[in-house]
Amino acid sequence: MTDTLIIFDTTMRDGEQSPGAAMSRDEKVRIARALERMRVNVIEAGFAAASPGDFESVRAVAESVRESTICSLARANENDVRRAGEAIRPAASGRIHTFIATSPIHMEKKLRMAPDQVVEQAVRAVKWAREYTDDVEFSAEDAGRSELDFLCRICTAVIDAGARTINIPDTVGYNVPHQFGSVLRQLIERVPNSDKVVWSVHCHNDLGLAVANSLAAVLAGARQVECTVNGLGERAGNASLEEIVMAVRTRRDVFTCDTRIDSTQIVPTSKLVSQITGYPVQPNKAVVGANAFAHESGIHQDGVLKHRETYEIMRAEDVGWSTNRLSLGKLSGRNAFKTKLQELGIALASEEALNAAFARFKVLADKKREIFDEDLQALIGEDGPQGNDDRYGLVYLRIHSETGEVPQASVTLSVGGAEQATQSQGSGPVDACFRAIESIVHSGAELLLYSVNAITTGTDAQGEVTVRLAKDGRVVNGQGADTDIIVASAKAYLNALNRLVSGVERLNPQAEETV
Ligand code: KIV
Ligand code: ZN
Repeated sequence: MTDTLIIFDTTMRDGEQSPGAAMSRDEKVRIARALERMRVNVIEAGFAAASPGDFESVRAVAESVRESTICSLARANENDVRRAGEAIRPAASGRIHTFIATSPIHMEKKLRMAPDQVVEQAVRAVKWAREYTDDVEFSAEDAGRSELDFLCRICTAVIDAGARTINIPDTVGYNVPHQFGSVLRQLIERVPNSDKVVWSVHCHNDLGLAVANSLAAVLAGARQVECTVNGLGERAGNASLEEIVMAVRTRRDVFTCDTRIDSTQIVPTSKLVSQITGYPVQPNKAVVGANAFAHESGIHQDGVLKHRETYEIMRAEDVGWSTNRLSLGKLSGRNAFKTKLQELGIALASEEALNAAFARFKVLADKKREIFDEDLQALIGEDGPQGNDDRYGLVYLRIHSETGEVPQASVTLSVGGAEQATQSQGSGPVDACFRAIESIVHSGAELLLYSVNAITTGTDAQGEVTVRLAKDGRVVNGQGADTDIIVASAKAYLNALNRLVSGVERLNPQAEETV
């Protein structure tokens, strides 16, 4: 008999706590639709009390998704819980996830609360949450460094108050598998009302053990794992969704549970998250890395040709590596384009946005014979499904680069609607281009990261560039795609600058001094 393992995806909440990974409302809706297609059980869409924008994002996801439960995080205070409750109201199935820290160090130094007060506050928060939904989850933040007796006490109290899922986070990634599994086993045994809830885990990857710790907990009886696509998340990230799902599925001999995930959606969703957040996937990343199914050594290649299972424990096509999916070509019309976007779960906000995207598609199709799904995702990502109301736009770019000569860039930008042009030199064409842009914009931002990836294969592939900028303590990522990587670089730089000037401020749920 196989139990269900609930997959709780927190890419859009914990993943969003990665530097520069903040997502707009429309980007969240696109990711949420991809997670829904993947049949994720619970989608944590954000932290509604963080800012009005975050509230709107959770609400928009709650309105758009029907097949997955939509969840908002809330600290254990009345305002947060009520904001979460309002944000999830339109959901077909909505959850409030409230948390408070339970480790001695967090209670004393961060919350400045006595353990009794923490229990009372947790119980109050769960009761407020139950005014909005029966589906209430409670997390004991930093449970991985909390005392077991105290964990038993607070868990018993919040279950009595109405929590239906109890999550045990290893917030700082401190635990090791056999010990973390034992914590779960003891909690399930010792908490008197433990059979009334689903036990969940949420592991961080500071020691590279997030997936191993989560799986140890599953073996001990946890039936929900909180995880993120590509392992994105605060600091070293969270347990990676694709690794959890494929470990449990591949080792059915070890695990007595399975997920309902459609694993063929894993790679497309990984690519979408990477493209939207600007966090590239390392080539040797398990399951979703470009080399995860590449056999380099002759002996391995020979073995796989003779009998695939000699060196492969999973099939590439089962996780969505069906090679690049040919989408459209030069002769495809507006209707085919619109239908394809719908298939990809992309809903454009207006006819104007569709027309603008179709015009960009035609330009791309002139340069590139075959357009793949990934190209379309990048194309839409350029100004989001709402259309473009950015401060800075690229009007013209000319690069002169020749061996023995100093590269030179001529750039024309639109700045708040008016055109400005300039020229600049640099140590390479990208440097010259960024210097030219900077001499118009004067942002003073620090460039933290510049990376280029090919979206698909072949020398006519689009290059996708990520630029990470920092200014006054804020970090933003920008993306740009084009068959010309200097143009892609300029677009990425401008995209990051537009995010910097949009100036949206938000709270980090775990950085606050008190509840
Ligand atoms: O890591 C953590 O403890 C969290 C909680 C808010 C669940 O992200
Ligand atoms: Zn976390």
